[in-house]
Amino acid sequence: MQDGNQPVNTQRLSQSKEPPEFDTAFRRALRDLMRWRRDVRHFRADPVDRGLVMACLEEACKGPSVGNSQPWRFVFVDTPEARAKVKANFESANADALGSYHGEKAERYARLKLSGLDIAPVQIAVFADLESTEGAGLGARTMPETKAYSVVAAIQCLWLLLRAEGLGLGWVSILEPDRLSADLAAEPGWRFIGHLCIGWPEEAQEHPELEREGWQARLPVERFVKEV
Ligand SMILES: Cc1cc2nc3c(=O)[nH]c(=O)nc-3n(C[C@H](O)[C@H](O)[C@H](O)COP(=O)(O)O)c2cc1C
Repeated sequence: MQDGNQPVNTQRLSQSKEPPEFDTAFRRALRDLMRWRRDVRHFRADPVDRGLVMACLEEACKGPSVGNSQPWRFVFVDTPEARAKVKANFESANADALGSYHGEKAERYARLKLSGLDIAPVQIAVFADLESTEGAGLGARTMPETKAYSVVAAIQCLWLLLRAEGLGLGWVSILEPDRLSADLAAEPGWRFIGHLCIGWPEEAQEHPELEREGWQARLPVERFVKEV
């Protein structure tokens, strides 16, 4: 695990003691943040200050979690050996995935860039600790999967915080989770959630890469809403 005692760059954090007012300009900026957050796979090789990533991570850990259990666990994948294992895992899972498509879809899939593993300066494997006792099981008794959901909520917060700093995040899930957990010496009871590639994006984009590549377009919200 990353050294949790490493000092965090707090200069960017608000020191305000009063409840803030989220004015019109802020709300507009927040919507812009939603619109311009992207899953990023094309990074510049420039280094990223670890203090800045830790500051964003600290804020992301203020996200919601079932029973306030805070089950997120972050493994910084720094060494070339560990990165090579993740890359090999991705290549094998990606080849398997390609084999499940046929014809034009297979050709399209093969052309997609589905990770920034080769270049992202910061890489974090994220796990949910399913055996942690924090929160004493509140909210998770009938739905133990809420621990994993809580970790996803933190990742989403991190995604937005990083984007606001100009950093990009790419979520890689084309991985065999048991192999990845073993390769990264994840602790017993930890479930793999996602591998995050972080760095300075080559360019800002308003639309998802998969939409731009003709794989899957965004759909109107009405498609997802039902009234009973
Ligand atoms: C749970 C999850 C897993 C994902 N796994 C991958 C992945 O393995 N490779 C990839 O290129 N993108 C992956 N993505 C990113 C999605 O492709 C991306 O979010 C989607 O196309 C919409 O683009 P946007 O995030 O830029 O809006 C993943 C996203 C989520 C939420």
